[in-house]
Amino acid sequence: MTPPKPTARPDKVTLWRYMRLFRADILSAQPARLYRAWMAEFRTPFFRSYMCNDPALVRLVLNARPDDFPKSNRIGEGLRPLLGNSVFVTNGEVWKHQRRIIDPAFEGGRIRETFPAMVAAGQEAVARMQTGRFDVEPEMSHAAADVMFRTLFSIPIENEIAAEVFEQFRNYQREQPILNLAAFLPLPRWFPRFHSRATKQTAARIRGLIRQLTETRAAQIAAGTAPDDLATKIMTTADPMTGQRFGTEEMIDQVAIFFLAGHETSASALGWALYLLAMYPEIQDRVAAEAAALDGIPVGGQPDFGVMGRLKFTRDVFREALRLYPPVPMMVRENTCPEAFRGRDVAPGAQVVLSPWHLHRHERIWDRPDEFDPDRWQTEAGRACGRDAFIPFSTGARVCPGAGFAMVEGPLLLAMLVSAFRFETVAGRVPVPVAHLTVRAKDGIWLDVARRV
Ligand code: HEM
Repeated sequence: MTPPKPTARPDKVTLWRYMRLFRADILSAQPARLYRAWMAEFRTPFFRSYMCNDPALVRLVLNARPDDFPKSNRIGEGLRPLLGNSVFVTNGEVWKHQRRIIDPAFEGGRIRETFPAMVAAGQEAVARMQTGRFDVEPEMSHAAADVMFRTLFSIPIENEIAAEVFEQFRNYQREQPILNLAAFLPLPRWFPRFHSRATKQTAARIRGLIRQLTETRAAQIAAGTAPDDLATKIMTTADPMTGQRFGTEEMIDQVAIFFLAGHETSASALGWALYLLAMYPEIQDRVAAEAAALDGIPVGGQPDFGVMGRLKFTRDVFREALRLYPPVPMMVRENTCPEAFRGRDVAPGAQVVLSPWHLHRHERIWDRPDEFDPDRWQTEAGRACGRDAFIPFSTGARVCPGAGFAMVEGPLLLAMLVSAFRFETVAGRVPVPVAHLTVRAKDGIWLDVARRV
């Protein structure tokens, strides 16, 4: 039995049916041949798009010439009421300026400094975790959101404003199935954009709450009383090229994306990782054994960052979960110059789709692509595939700034949870992966949770 994979659609469907499938879920809207293809062209009356699975093409678009393949303006459409001009949706000089300020906050040394806040969030997650049968996805969202509030603003999720931001984000996602057609496909201008009034109101409410946090922090920085966390670091860093700092509006945009990109993704990965461990109890026991070596983590101790070096297998488990269930399943760029991809002409304005989902399960690249095998990461073949065909955080200039952060947070939380609890699958409740904002399970991830004694 291999881990769950969505059923692919038949090879040929009408455009209308494709759009309906796409709207419901982009994963099951794709045909099985994409797991073997190096490239696939989709032609519709409105647009052409090219899915690139050839590692050389992925490198061309993301590493070699990212400026020639900007994010399409339409990508941010579903998110714009909430994210404004955040680093996730901008391009060109504005984007470069934003990254010059943001990147230093996530450098290796800084992650070490945010580690105690991550440990505290993990301890709370262990303390909150119930035993019995339930959907663990909401628990993982809660834990990942807590990590973000503690590392960004030094407040726990129980803080009144933090709790409301979290709640409102959930409403936003319910009202706005974010990977909607308008966000992903270059539809004509007259096509309705699906921003309901409720979506706009929720976005305004979230931004109002983030404004309070940001303005309070600006005042603390001015008074010299600000805690030394990610928000302070980002708000006090000047762009080394222009000397400019983020103003309040810009900072609100960035906090909104950190919060969204930082908790939805990690929550998705943690949920799937727990499911995989439940499917493979012997692997779960190996994680528990490794985690047991970390004296004090689950019961209130304060381990130093060095313990991460001892969570090697847990890290491979998390990596393998990211391979099978990349939280961001696809990324879209727009080409601005005439290109020839694998000998085929690609006109400017086409959509270039990079799909971690397909690349990570590509049948011509990976050995046993659909199997869960964390030990593959310690083999030469596994490492080579990792270099060529593993991009859960994207790659190149636009790589996720939170990648290093997430690769500490994920294994840490996993180790803490597994050292305290045993997770088991529930008969008849196999989760079906669907792409919402991130890859989630259609009806949640139900597990039996018992205390590990
Ligand atoms: C397992 C966890 C995570 C995964 C799988 C992930 C994945 C990604 C991916 C694939 C992108 C590129 C999207 C694109 O180009 O269309 C991205 C961008 C981004 N991520 Fe993450 N991410 C994770 C955690 C985080 C965390 C913890 C933070 C912040 C603390 C973060 C902040 C961002 C931001 C700000 C961007 C936009 C970067 C840009 O466009 O320049 N992410 N992430």
